[in-house]
Amino acid sequence: MPNHSLNALTQRSAPLLKILGCEYPIMLAGMGGVARHKLAAAVSNAGGFGVLGMVREPAALIRSEILALRELSQAPFAVNLIPACTNAALLKEQVDTCLDLDVSTFVLFWEVDTALIRYLKSLGKTVIHQVGYQCDADAAQAAGADVLIVQGQEAGGHVRGQTSTLSLLPQIIQHCDVPVVASGGIASGQAVAAAMMLGAQGVSLGTAFLATHEANAHLHHKQRVLAAEADKTIYTTLFARNWHEAAPVRVLANAATRGEYDSADRDLIIGHQDGQPVYIFSTDSPLVGATGKLDDMALYCGQSCSQISTLCSAAERFQQIAEDAAQRLNQLP
Ligand SMILES: Cc1cc2nc3c(=O)[nH]c(=O)nc-3n(C[C@H](O)[C@H](O)[C@H](O)COP(=O)(O)O)c2cc1C
Repeated sequence: MPNHSLNALTQRSAPLLKILGCEYPIMLAGMGGVARHKLAAAVSNAGGFGVLGMVREPAALIRSEILALRELSQAPFAVNLIPACTNAALLKEQVDTCLDLDVSTFVLFWEVDTALIRYLKSLGKTVIHQVGYQCDADAAQAAGADVLIVQGQEAGGHVRGQTSTLSLLPQIIQHCDVPVVASGGIASGQAVAAAMMLGAQGVSLGTAFLATHEANAHLHHKQRVLAAEADKTIYTTLFARNWHEAAPVRVLANAATRGEYDSADRDLIIGHQDGQPVYIFSTDSPLVGATGKLDDMALYCGQSCSQISTLCSAAERFQQIAEDAAQRLNQLP
């Protein structure tokens, strides 16, 4: 049901909305473990664009998540994969599973996998690529990406580049022929409006949707995010286990970032998730059902955390941000 008070939010976004097939230019960021079917369906059903965060997940889980999402929503959605940190055999299984289930849109991140983008484009799929550098933006576009998500260094989770959203967004837009979505530092209508003033056609939100009922993050993680402030997040390469390189992430301070563990503790098991051990310095964040030293795990959090303070449903978060953004955009000359 179109909400006319939100017109100002969609006015600058027609090309993006046509590609995504949704009503409003607010995407769920593809958060591994956290953005599963309930959250993706809630965002899609609110009129945004749901994304399943399926990095390194087995094909069987990807299949069951896609089917469960389709039970909850008929709206368009995408699957997020990270080729660089996934071994080739698993990546092939992941992609084949998505193709088998007719997934039409993929959100990719980290190093640009030109061959994969070309393959997906040859099958008529929509490819969205999150980038943190101009060179990645150029490579993704040259390979055929339909949309770029520009991730600023304020972002939570894995952070590709070292430039703020405020600076990187206009730079990449200037050299870009496809619609651009902003990510990092955005969890309020004010920030959405600012991103749109810089030329973004939409936004991709992680932290804002992590702290909602439908997210698959552990309640402890949600509560830590809601209590946090922008200047308390930490940019570090500590949480490197399971990744192909010691990649930077943005997290909340905990015993691991305070140096209470050292490299000799590398094989220390600090908890369990779904029957599997969680090691110190693992990239795995605590999800629903996690046990053990939850606070010592990777508590991903963007600097946008200071824009949110209450645990609510994803639809409420979506509505609040969308309405506030539209109101602010409406006030512009
Ligand atoms: C808990 C969490 C997990 C994330 N996991 C992924 C991921 O698996 N794939 C991905 O492309 N981006 C991932 N990101 C980064 C997001 O795509 C996005 O860039 C970031 O959330 C934007 O900043 P914000 O959290 O302030 O909205 C993750 C972010 C968070 C907070």
